[in-house]
Amino acid sequence: MTENGRSRRKELIRWVALFGVTAAMLAAMLYLFYRYPGKGIGPQQPIYFSHRVHAGVKEIDCRFCHPFVERSRKAGIPEMEKCFFCHKYVIPDHPQIVREREHYETRNPVPWVRIYYVPDFVKFMHQPHIRWAGLDCSECHGPVEAMDRLRPVEFQMEFCINCHRQRDAQIDCWLACHH
Ligand code: HEC
Ligand code: HEC
Ligand code: HEC
Ligand code: HEC
Repeated sequence: MTENGRSRRKELIRWVALFGVTAAMLAAMLYLFYRYPGKGIGPQQPIYFSHRVHAGVKEIDCRFCHPFVERSRKAGIPEMEKCFFCHKYVIPDHPQIVREREHYETRNPVPWVRIYYVPDFVKFMHQPHIRWAGLDCSECHGPVEAMDRLRPVEFQMEFCINCHRQRDAQIDCWLACHH
């Protein structure tokens, strides 16, 4: 074989190998994505707020920022004022805090990207789950205190039903859960 032919063959093998590796990586990524939806990193938020820093490292209680879980359908996203309860004094010149302050001073709410969903026709209320059943946030939301960016999850009906079965909560009357 000529010198030229050999190097062309090497080139070809290199391309085939590269293609093979890329295809294998894509397949692995797809597998992981479907096997573990909701893993992977969450969407970038308008302010780089981290649950790992606040609820994890600094151990701030979930209810300090989401105070309505026991009293209402909704847990509630903290108002801008609440950030300055601490950030008036803590790292007030951090670029992300400066941006948060701009939102606050111009009364322009931070457009947080929504993370957890139930479909529109489902009626979910935090109150009975927290106040009466005494469930921990992590049972449904996972280890939030270990995440920088929360990862989107759309809860499916089987998620509700599986737990209701295990804990003898109602499963017969879906009227209670559907609009
Ligand atoms: C210092 C305030 C603060 C603390 C403490 C805190 N959060 Fe949050 N939480 C936020 C903010 C701000 C958002 C909106 C931005 C985001 O989604 O990351 C949020 C969003 C969320 C969401 C998603 C809301 C959605 O869009 O669906 C969940 C679930 C949540 N928090 C649960 C928790 C849990 C569980 C804890 C305790 C382990 C906790 N949070 C502690 C401020 C806080
Ligand atoms: C109860 C006190 C408290 C509240 C309320 C609070 N934070 Fe913080 N935050 C902290 C502390 C403490 C730190 C760590 C500061 C440091 O690293 O020196 C921090 C760090 C941060 C940082 C820097 C994160 C990093 O990666 O280092 C950002 C951005 C931030 N907070 C945004 C917010 C926003 C937005 C809110 C309101 C939704 C908020 N914080 C509410 C106490 C608080
Ligand atoms: C039984 C499961 C379950 C438990 C336990 C639970 N959540 Fe939720 N959470 C949900 C579901 C489902 C949604 C989406 C609701 C919707 O789309 O209306 C949600 C949405 C949220 C949201 C965003 C919207 C809102 O309601 O304001 C926050 C914040 C939140 N949860 C915080 C918490 C915190 C903090 C705790 C613990 C004190 C907790 N959750 C415990 C199931 C749960
Ligand atoms: C981790 C377990 C768990 C999950 C997940 C869960 N639930 Fe529940 N749920 C319970 C328990 C336990 C009760 C019973 C509370 C009580 O003592 O009345 C309950 C009660 C309820 C009730 C009845 C409240 C009342 O007035 O009696 C409704 C409605 C409900 N859940 C809807 C849902 C929906 C919708 C979902 C899914 C988005 C869901 N639940 C997910 C554990 C769970």
